[in-house]
Amino acid sequence: MSEELFIPIDAGKREKYESLLPQIEALITGEPNLIANLANISAALKEAFGWWWVGFYWVRNNELVLGPFQGPIACTRIKIGKGVCGTAWETAQSILVPDVEKFPGHIACSSSSVSEIVVPVFDKSRQVVGVLDVDSERYDVLDETDVEFLEKLSEMITLLL
Ligand code: SME
Repeated sequence: MSEELFIPIDAGKREKYESLLPQIEALITGEPNLIANLANISAALKEAFGWWWVGFYWVRNNELVLGPFQGPIACTRIKIGKGVCGTAWETAQSILVPDVEKFPGHIACSSSSVSEIVVPVFDKSRQVVGVLDVDSERYDVLDETDVEFLEKLSEMITLLL
């Protein structure tokens, strides 16, 4: 596919995801390199939604280690059960955090980030192998629609693993 995204600028969030996800699928299908695919997924999400930070942490030696991302520099390593990312890993559940101040143990990589979603990424045996993390500098942007589509995206990644 061409290396250019079509994103309907005036569309609502759901329509944007419905346009974006098949394009991401086309972009990653047939490319075996995981880092390349995670990098392009981060860039596509950043381009479509303009979030403060979006990217991946991947499980390495029983820690989450920073992977491909778009946005400011971030914490490099997160232990299981720590922060939103480590909790999503431990519980194997997506977590929507509308206000990071209200999430006990939230890890503030950037003081500009005020809300967050973390979605686990599973391998084919349903072990969590990484997380997709989205941070916003606004309180009113991230919601259950994002969780729904980011989980679909996570399942697309599982098919690559
Ligand atoms: N806030 C996350 C840490 C990662 S950064 O937001 C990029 C957490 O609490 O796990």
